[in-house]
Amino acid sequence: MRGKIYINGLPAEVDLQGGELLLDVLRALGYTEVKEGCREGACGSCLVLLDGVLVNSCQVLAASAVDRQITTVKGLGTIHEPHPIQQAFVDTGAVQCGFCTPGMILAAFSLLKKNPHPEQQEIRRALDGNLCRCTGYVKIIEAVKLAAERMASDG
Ligand code: FES
Ligand code: FES
Repeated sequence: MRGKIYINGLPAEVDLQGGELLLDVLRALGYTEVKEGCREGACGSCLVLLDGVLVNSCQVLAASAVDRQITTVKGLGTIHEPHPIQQAFVDTGAVQCGFCTPGMILAAFSLLKKNPHPEQQEIRRALDGNLCRCTGYVKIIEAVKLAAERMASDG
């Protein structure tokens, strides 16, 4: 099956044989910010937004993404123009090895879109499907709170 998927606003031609996972197709196209962890839907490192909805890309067939919009963490902001969530992760020291960070940031983005003023428990729940082996989660939760404050004050 040939078709186009749209990644961070850019079209990519894909030739799919059948059962390829979206995770593998994205990484083969060079979107290696989408991390490969468990491949079982349990770690959140492969999260992307598919038409704005958070999905574990290891659990999605690439064929189902044809003609749809995918956003990876690089679609939110760049190193020169970071999204406030990305900046807050840096400012609070919430990034150590960085493997979990793309998924964490996308999960936080999805939360703040629905709930711009989350309570601590709501942040914890939203990040429940994301594993981090380095930070102990405290700084990650601080980062999401800081991003929420900054985004609220920026209007
Ligand atoms: S690699 Fe997809 S959830 Fe772990
Ligand atoms: S910063 Fe290393 S896994 Fe989270």
